[in-house]
Amino acid sequence: MKILVIGTGYVGLSTAAVLAELGNEVIAADIDRKKIEGLNNGIMPIFEPGLKEMVQRNVRENRLKFVSDNKKAIEHGDIIFICVGTPPKDNWETELKYVENVAKDIAKNMSSYKVIVHKSTVPVETGDKVKKIIKDNIKENVGFDVVSNPEFLREGTAIEDTLHPDRIVIGADSDKAIDIMKKMYYPIKSPIIITDIKSAELIKHASNAFLATKISFINSIAKICELSGADVEKVAEGMGYDKRIGRTFLNAGIGYGGFCFPKDSQAFIKIAENYGYDYKLLKATNEINEEQKKNFVEKVKKALNGVDGKTLAVLGLSFKPDTDDMRFAPSAYIIVELQGKGAKIRAYDPVAMEKAKNILSNVCFCKDPYEASKGADALLILTEWNEFKEIDLKKIKSLLKNPLIIDGRNIYDINAMKNEGFRYISIGRKEVFPK
Ligand code: UDX
Repeated sequence: MKILVIGTGYVGLSTAAVLAELGNEVIAADIDRKKIEGLNNGIMPIFEPGLKEMVQRNVRENRLKFVSDNKKAIEHGDIIFICVGTPPKDNWETELKYVENVAKDIAKNMSSYKVIVHKSTVPVETGDKVKKIIKDNIKENVGFDVVSNPEFLREGTAIEDTLHPDRIVIGADSDKAIDIMKKMYYPIKSPIIITDIKSAELIKHASNAFLATKISFINSIAKICELSGADVEKVAEGMGYDKRIGRTFLNAGIGYGGFCFPKDSQAFIKIAENYGYDYKLLKATNEINEEQKKNFVEKVKKALNGVDGKTLAVLGLSFKPDTDDMRFAPSAYIIVELQGKGAKIRAYDPVAMEKAKNILSNVCFCKDPYEASKGADALLILTEWNEFKEIDLKKIKSLLKNPLIIDGRNIYDINAMKNEGFRYISIGRKEVFPK
């Protein structure tokens, strides 16, 4: 099938690559010429396992092209995916102008029937807006359908999630559009849920709100564990065996970050407010998430009797492993707060340091965890990269000024750390001291 994907961010690029991989003729368009130039030369704008190889293979085999003029490309697509950004405005409402501009462009440049799909996370009723914009701007008397097909991919596993999603949601009010979408997704063997457009839009927001709430739920349990002397890992394990609860997304830590949960939960609160509903549960989810970062800063200050003049080694900067994304990363808040209290930071991250340099200042970026640990008063773990789990702890101990690790991601076993001779402070578990 002939497909046009407009927007080459995480969602658009993964969608374009996977749809080309499935055998479609895909054009991916973006107004950012530099990005397109890079993509045409095999340079990916984001770090995502498997993406580069998939893009290069499909470009080579002529199934995938990148262009910077979406107007010209519109005629190519029988299906047009709108994957442009939906960033937050200052008041956390969703900025829809990019979606609206693209809808206008599509309307003005189409001369045959199109299925126009919005994939970005948008407020419920955006489909109706897109429909109206197209109707108001269409030049010729051609048919079209609007479909909501939200994307659920996670950064770090974007390709895998797009190829093997838990479900495919198709929100549409036309049988013709549903058939075309089903045909396009035929090679992907995942359950397909057909709904009206509004329900599809809400499925996306509701899913993200639920997941964010699950994280804040376990983080609040972690607090009770710390106060009572229980162990949050055991509590999560015990809860997780209940099939209705499940063990995933019950990892206590320093709070969720990234470009989805923080902005989507705030946007959903606004959406509810605009319908006259006070979304108290989601507000609490956000508050607990903010507290979680503050609590970690307090933990560090308490462990060191203040951080003024102290040197802190930080392992992990990205908001989660396997990505270089620093947007709303808890590490950024924590580092700035600790610097404000007089701490010097030596940091290491396997891939996020370049992006971190744009938002952090006065940080000494190091070539590995050992260099970061040299002479530091404590080691902080802020992202659970696998390589930190395999680290040579004896070497780390010999490099640190104090054998103190404050782990915001619970990556080590508390007894093992005790045996290794560390004072080890984590989230929702007992603090242990060297044997
Ligand atoms: C998320 C959703 O999972 C995805 O479906 C949606 O489309 C976009 O938002 P993503 O932001 O890539 O994806 O990351 P995810 O893996 O969901 O993690 C989000 C944040 O939650 C990270 O900061 C992570 O560290 C945190 N988290 C996750 C926890 O603190 N504990 C957990 O148990 C799980």
